[in-house]
Amino acid sequence: MDNRPSRKTVLRAALAAGVAVPAALLAVPALARTSSGAPPLTPACDDGDDPTPQQTEGPYFKPNSPQRTSLVQPGTVGTPLTVSGYVFGLKCQPIANVLLDFWQADNNGAYDNTGFRFRGHQFTDANGAFKLTTIVPGLYPGRTRHIHVKVQAPNRPVLTTQLYFPNEPRNNTDSIFDPRLLMTVRNAGSGREAAFDFVLNVPQSPPTTTPPPGGGTWAAGTSYTAGSRVTHNGIGYVCLQTHVAQPGWEPPVTAALWRAE
Ligand SMILES: [Fe+2]
Repeated sequence: MDNRPSRKTVLRAALAAGVAVPAALLAVPALARTSSGAPPLTPACDDGDDPTPQQTEGPYFKPNSPQRTSLVQPGTVGTPLTVSGYVFGLKCQPIANVLLDFWQADNNGAYDNTGFRFRGHQFTDANGAFKLTTIVPGLYPGRTRHIHVKVQAPNRPVLTTQLYFPNEPRNNTDSIFDPRLLMTVRNAGSGREAAFDFVLNVPQSPPTTTPPPGGGTWAAGTSYTAGSRVTHNGIGYVCLQTHVAQPGWEPPVTAALWRAE
């Protein structure tokens, strides 16, 4: 397996580190963060971030699950588990307000088909992040260990799939198991912490870069910072004072604001 960090992995690290604001994140190609820090000129997202594969819904889905991020209730028995991650579109940009509806077996491998134990939905936050607090699902005949989920970006089709645990003996015999849906799982105290990032088949505009302050042709209404450069009627000017340009403040007539170059 390729040991390079995937774009998703790096994006995850950047997001988790608080780089956070998607626009800022995406203005700097994430892969550049691992090397020199100098962003390449043309961000690309071709490192295998294909959309997350779909899987069968199975017989135990129930609509109208409660909105909650924790499926743990008083008296819940099982190994504590958190599942956290991000939801990205095809250009690796995180997507906010994505619905994630999780359902899973309890510690004994049983689904609650009369109530809503171990069923719940939540939405990604402004950074495209989600976090589920639950327990490690139990095994039931015929299947390896898994968590079901439906993922839906606003006004987009539903992705129905399942998440898997590494190093499960039954992964080798479960015909539905797909290694592309393996979570990263580590021990954390008496429980486990799992991570998985979804990539939805959602078209996105290529990441845009923030233009340097000023630049281009002078225009009223634009905020200019001292030192930024513009052109006006074919002449270049450098900004002397930070200001928001107003009609009538054209560079040739505002010597306090602009100096011809
Ligand atoms: Fe299941």
